[in-house]
Amino acid sequence: MAPLKVAIVGVGNIGNVHARCYQANPKTKIVAVCDLVKEKADAAAAAYAARAFYSVREMLQSGVKIDCASMCTAGKENGGDHYTPTMELLSAGIPTLGEKPISNEVDKAKKMVALAKKKNVRYAIDLNHRFTPAAKLAKQWVEEGRLGHLHIINMTMWIDNPNETAEHFHARALHPHSIDVMRYFCGDAVKVQAFFNHGQTRDGKTRKCWSNLQANMLFENGVVGHLTGSYDAGGGFGLERCEVTGSLGRFVLEEACEDLTLYSRNNSGREAHHHLGGMTNFGETFASRIGVWVDQNLKKVKPERVDGSGEDALRAQKIIEACIASWNANRIVTVKY
Ligand SMILES: NC(=O)c1ccc[n+]([C@@H]2O[C@H](COP(=O)([O-])OP(=O)(O)OC[C@H]3O[C@@H](n4cnc5c(N)ncnc54)[C@H](O)[C@@H]3O)[C@@H](O)[C@H]2O)c1
Repeated sequence: MAPLKVAIVGVGNIGNVHARCYQANPKTKIVAVCDLVKEKADAAAAAYAARAFYSVREMLQSGVKIDCASMCTAGKENGGDHYTPTMELLSAGIPTLGEKPISNEVDKAKKMVALAKKKNVRYAIDLNHRFTPAAKLAKQWVEEGRLGHLHIINMTMWIDNPNETAEHFHARALHPHSIDVMRYFCGDAVKVQAFFNHGQTRDGKTRKCWSNLQANMLFENGVVGHLTGSYDAGGGFGLERCEVTGSLGRFVLEEACEDLTLYSRNNSGREAHHHLGGMTNFGETFASRIGVWVDQNLKKVKPERVDGSGEDALRAQKIIEACIASWNANRIVTVKY
């Protein structure tokens, strides 16, 4: 089978992470790289033996054949720049894997998802935390009934991030990931109630952004959940931990891919997996997520069947906005879908 011809838009830090995944994947060939900053586009073109472009429009007008694209711009709250280039790619009918957050503005996210639907184009987001062998097995346990009737989900995700550019940078930029994992196991949240605070830096300065968050959630299936999030943690704290309990058992998933344990409620038996599928750390989740995206494009799966879709990312962003609205209004908020 001929390799998929890939374009990468935005070749900063994460665009180059995507590029190295495609470069290592024998099913793909990078044909175009695009960045508004000429030096970055030129450097990436040289590194990946691709053509350099300095705008999406120029790339689309060049006639270069593109089977699918990674869209890795950033901007305000790490999502402010995604809208225009994504709309250009989707308008041209190019299947697009965007970076998270789908957008920092829900209205723009809705427009991107709607355009992909209208054009019948695959549109997915790099919700890489769930694309691990451990998360896949945990999901299988849920579906097979190993946990019984689901009761509770507890999710913690935290990193060290001193960025102070927007008051809700932490919620909008980090928690698309944690909420996507919660949705993966438990479906949509319908009500949320959240508290935020301003943390302190290591040298004792109070932060400007709402850098810590605790949110309670009620899911459509009746599960009650909790999210702990922070930009004042990470390092020795680790990155994430997800625990789901049910009438028959519970699982704990550590660091997205590192340790997965199923505990039975009826006996002391447990099933433990360490580095399932040979995946040892979070960095490897990009290749596995991109691998699924590549395979789904090669198989030409229907846009509505794409894993980690734009629609999934939009729903996660709506839950984040409901958390912010809850804090601002000091009340429980019903998520608007
Ligand atoms: N999935 C993950 O685990 C993960 C981890 C970290 C960051 N991210 C996400 O990756 C994205 C990129 O982050 P980054 O750290 O690489 O940012 P970055 O600033 O290093 O790179 C973004 C690049 O996009 C370019 N750009 C902006 N607008 C453009 C346009 N219209 N056309 C072409 N190029 C354009 C910029 O010049 C820049 O080079 C963010 O959305 C971030 O949230 C995801």
